[in-house]
Amino acid sequence: MKILVVGSGGREHVLVWKLGLADRVREIYCSPGNAGIADASKTRLLPKLSPRKLLDFAVSQSVDLAVVGPEASLVDGIGDLFRQAGVPLVGPSAGAARLEGSKAFAKDFMARHQIPTAAYQVFDEASTAAQALRNGLFDFPVVLKADGLAAGKGVLICADLQEAVAAVDRIMIARRFGTAGDRLVIEEFLQGEEASFMVLADGAGNVVPMVPSQDHKQIFEGDRGPNTGGMGAYSMDGLLSPDLRRRILDEVILPTVDGMNREGHPFAGILYAGLMLTADGPKVLEFNVRFGDPEAQVILPRLRSELSTLLLQAACGGLAGVRAEWTPDAAVCVVAASQGYPGSYPKGHEISGLERAGRMDKLVVFHAGTSHAGGRFLTSGGRVLGVTALAPTLEEAVRRAYAGLNEIHFDGIYYRRDIAYRRLSPPERNSE
Ligand code: AMP
Ligand code: GLY
Repeated sequence: MKILVVGSGGREHVLVWKLGLADRVREIYCSPGNAGIADASKTRLLPKLSPRKLLDFAVSQSVDLAVVGPEASLVDGIGDLFRQAGVPLVGPSAGAARLEGSKAFAKDFMARHQIPTAAYQVFDEASTAAQALRNGLFDFPVVLKADGLAAGKGVLICADLQEAVAAVDRIMIARRFGTAGDRLVIEEFLQGEEASFMVLADGAGNVVPMVPSQDHKQIFEGDRGPNTGGMGAYSMDGLLSPDLRRRILDEVILPTVDGMNREGHPFAGILYAGLMLTADGPKVLEFNVRFGDPEAQVILPRLRSELSTLLLQAACGGLAGVRAEWTPDAAVCVVAASQGYPGSYPKGHEISGLERAGRMDKLVVFHAGTSHAGGRFLTSGGRVLGVTALAPTLEEAVRRAYAGLNEIHFDGIYYRRDIAYRRLSPPERNSE
């Protein structure tokens, strides 16, 4: 089997790593990839190419399956392009990718299908949004979301009226998130713990749930500071009770798949529900239409079933009766970032210790922002690496992940020392 993976982050590295473990996978191409992906077995890097050029390549090389990591090209229609040409692709059509591409679409869709989510209103004008806030239509804190894709940064949580009115201005007038600020969603602030729940969906109404995980979005320990793409994640069976998983499937996932079908945009690919587990049950914060990053780095290492088979079944409407098998081990991924991220940061620092860490048991270093230069690895992005460890207990997985990170150095290396803290007893925190 020949597989094309699109993207360049830790999520794409874990995909390439996992796919490459199977004998049936002969060759993997990744566009544009990173230095770690370049070194992965069976893998060849391609330059960054347009969707049309990627399709031409896939057809010319008789690629059997394409897997798309980042949301932007799915929202732009790469799924439609490949499907029209008969090349199986894991990812939804542009019409179905609106679940992630437009927060207003996702909220209105949830309202149409009674899917639990925060109360909200959509605004096209800054003046009406500010007036609604002044008229007391929302309690504080309140959540403001730019409508389009904003790399996870277009969500502002505002403590009071003054902050909220200033945020309307930043999003809709100053256009801090570009055209994503054409429309604004204002919604109720939900309290609780967050969880990421992903399923494979095949466009024919069948879904295969993956194990749950929890991300750590903020840059600083204790969930403080600005949001990032994700600073670490963990996955373990006890994260959600069987009852809660059932509720998420029955109240969120299946009504979403069914609703998209009925609206003429069947969803095929990875459906990711970002949830708040509130006192009233699980509520949707957002949908993503692809694997989470770093969630994929803790979920895929736990998968016992063969990944390329599952992905091909998802791409071709063949998930009826399919189950995925998982190890009961806990998995933890800690992201090492460049000093300054999520703001500006330097690039080009040499990374040392990768070989030593790579030799450690049940530990894998996934690359994100790395490049090669003369046999050395250099930093080239905000999130540089993700160190993932597996172990029978969460405590042990945490200990291993931090022991791996201890071996790795680059100037300005920064990582959170409290990944998985919600599930650890106090003495285990800040281990290593
Ligand atoms: P989103 O991109 O919509 O998932 O928002 C990014 C982050 O903002 C989420 O992971 C939450 O931490 C936070 N957030 C979004 N919506 C809400 C909400 N309604 N209530 C509380 N926090 C929220
Ligand atoms: N880690 C959150 C995301 O991938 O959107």
